[in-house]
Amino acid sequence: MSTTDRELRVGMVGYAFMGAAHSQAWRTVNRVFDLPTRARMSLVCGRDAGKVADAADRLGWDAYTTDWRDLVASDDIDVVDVCTPGDSHAEIALAALAAGKHVLCEKPLANTISEARAMAAAAVTAQAAGVRSMCGFNYRRVPAVAMMRQLVADGRLGVIRHVRATYLQDWIVDPQFPLVWRLQRDRAGSGALGDIGAHIIDLTQYVTGQRITGVSAITETFVKERPLPAGSNGLAATVDGTAPAVDGADGHRPATGLVTVDDAAVFVARLDGGALATYEASRFATGRKNALRVEINGSLGTVAFDLERLNELEFYDATKPAAEQGFTRILVTEGEHPYMSAWWPPGHLIGYEHSFTHQARDFIEAVATGVDPAPSFVDGLQVQLVLDAVTRSAELGSSWTEVEPALATVAA
Ligand SMILES: NC(=O)c1ccc[n+]([C@@H]2O[C@H](COP(=O)([O-])OP(=O)(O)OC[C@H]3O[C@@H](n4cnc5c(N)ncnc54)[C@H](O)[C@@H]3O)[C@@H](O)[C@H]2O)c1
Repeated sequence: MSTTDRELRVGMVGYAFMGAAHSQAWRTVNRVFDLPTRARMSLVCGRDAGKVADAADRLGWDAYTTDWRDLVASDDIDVVDVCTPGDSHAEIALAALAAGKHVLCEKPLANTISEARAMAAAAVTAQAAGVRSMCGFNYRRVPAVAMMRQLVADGRLGVIRHVRATYLQDWIVDPQFPLVWRLQRDRAGSGALGDIGAHIIDLTQYVTGQRITGVSAITETFVKERPLPAGSNGLAATVDGTAPAVDGADGHRPATGLVTVDDAAVFVARLDGGALATYEASRFATGRKNALRVEINGSLGTVAFDLERLNELEFYDATKPAAEQGFTRILVTEGEHPYMSAWWPPGHLIGYEHSFTHQARDFIEAVATGVDPAPSFVDGLQVQLVLDAVTRSAELGSSWTEVEPALATVAA
């Protein structure tokens, strides 16, 4: 048996927030789940040799490199895990697929429709050669979310009428918060919309099994200019288009740059099963730290999920006798619940990082058993098409904007 039959040798690009979360998952997954193949944390990539060496040691990687091209070209790597900002997803993932590596790529899949379409097309082509790819919408792997989908699929909610989704944060309420990459369109693609709105778009389409067919949107950038981060190369533009003072050298005012993404996006949508949906993504919801909430109302019942109480699901079963109706709080920690039999006795709670371990589990199992994991790059493109439609609708005074099925646009 060759090394690759026994192990999936993972190479991860980027080692900060998502890099740490994915490392936690790769470290844990084979110790918790009984899988046909082991993941080996072979190689991590970052651009600064000192920092990536430290990250490799701290996060548990065998070796490091400072160029993702070396990682992608290495004969000793089977899986490329892309944990960089959106501006490098397409280049790295396309090179990895071309080199025959399985790819796990963070969300949103890319920064533009054309990049996402190229990635989806490459992934479809690679499938024929047994090369797997997956987009990292990890919230699908929260057991309560997986159970929500099961309830819908089993018909327990009847016909879905309403989807109500919000994802609220407040980390840039302070106008002095610096102009980090997430606030720059060329690095991030969009703002709250693509960063957190993408999650609720994917999650609601996944749970309902329905696709968003059209949207009407408004977006806003409340703080239009921000201080450049310390050590910034000063590439961001100022409001008046002049070059910024890189280090605030005049001694009076810190150098600033334009915010080129949305701070908040709000939109209504139609789903192809007939449901009406509302979405809100904001980084200006003061007091809300990571408040992802979804409620789905059907003809036979309702389910509601709140990420800040991620072990719970609220379920209202309208088929019960009237005298017994009411919202039930289900603690999703039983062995019968998705993923939970591998963890602790009932009532012993899990957290945020477990969704990444479950993601790694599903990815390894799919690769080892030769099936395509979900969400696929085509699913990632579907979300990207919605993001693009929201942006265009907002630019055109909230005009109704249709969203095409992703697969049709890949084949075209
Ligand atoms: N699934 C989730 O819940 C979730 C949460 C946060 C971020 N994300 C996504 O993960 C991705 C990364 O976000 P983050 O929060 O980890 O960002 P981050 O800024 O914390 O980390 C980015 C990492 O990429 C590295 N990097 C950037 N360009 C590189 C290059 N060319 N070569 C090698 N390394 C490079 C940086 O050095 C850093 O280590 C984004 O696509 C983001 O949308 C997903």
